[in-house]
Amino acid sequence: MNTLSPVITIDGPTASGKGTVAHRVATALGWGVLDSGALYRLTALSVLQHEIDPEDSQAVARAGQQLEVSFHPQGVALFGREVSEVIRQEHVGNLASRLAPNPALRQALLERQRAFRIAPGLVADGRDMGTIVFKDASLKIFLVADARARAERRCKQLIDKGISANLDDLVADMRERDARDIERAVAPLVPAPDAHVVDSSQLTIEQTVQNVLDLWSRVLPTPPAKV
Ligand code: C5P
Repeated sequence: MNTLSPVITIDGPTASGKGTVAHRVATALGWGVLDSGALYRLTALSVLQHEIDPEDSQAVARAGQQLEVSFHPQGVALFGREVSEVIRQEHVGNLASRLAPNPALRQALLERQRAFRIAPGLVADGRDMGTIVFKDASLKIFLVADARARAERRCKQLIDKGISANLDDLVADMRERDARDIERAVAPLVPAPDAHVVDSSQLTIEQTVQNVLDLWSRVLPTPPAKV
């Protein structure tokens, strides 16, 4: 019998709303959440801070291995310093996406991600949660939205934070990042064969969350019939 805690994976391209949906689904179920992209962003930040050559795959993997990270309800600290805002910046996300194809880095982050699987359950979002990290997940979602809808959401988020943003640049940037994630040899961005593809282009966050919760209620084990 599999005694591991249940996992719901939510994979998909940049800015498809995975993070928000994952947090809300986790809150609704009273489960923990793993934002795996944050680990790639934290590695990128560490590479910048320690002036590591992004092309030096072993040094980058070591940086991933040696991250001293603590996730807390308000955000995340790296080596004891609050970095929740800085890791969301576009240049950090772009570097994360350039580092992510490195197999040694992906291997270095694997066990760290799996350690998040604790009772009563985990909602994990990323690119390879359902295909590699939690292959045995109880429910796998592949969340998509068209590039324009995603760029509009990202643009609004940045402007709300007082950061200037250009929609066309964001669309171009997003397409480039998606292409890198889809085309890489290791852990490419693809739906797991048993994933449910959910298109959120025309859905509100609430509708998307409900969609996932409905799918989850269908995979819950049926209690034995009373006789
Ligand atoms: O999801 P987020 O945009 O924060 O992720 C930053 C980058 O990290 C992505 O562009 C992607 O290249 C990489 N990533 C990954 N595998 C994951 C999560 C993120 O390769 N599971």
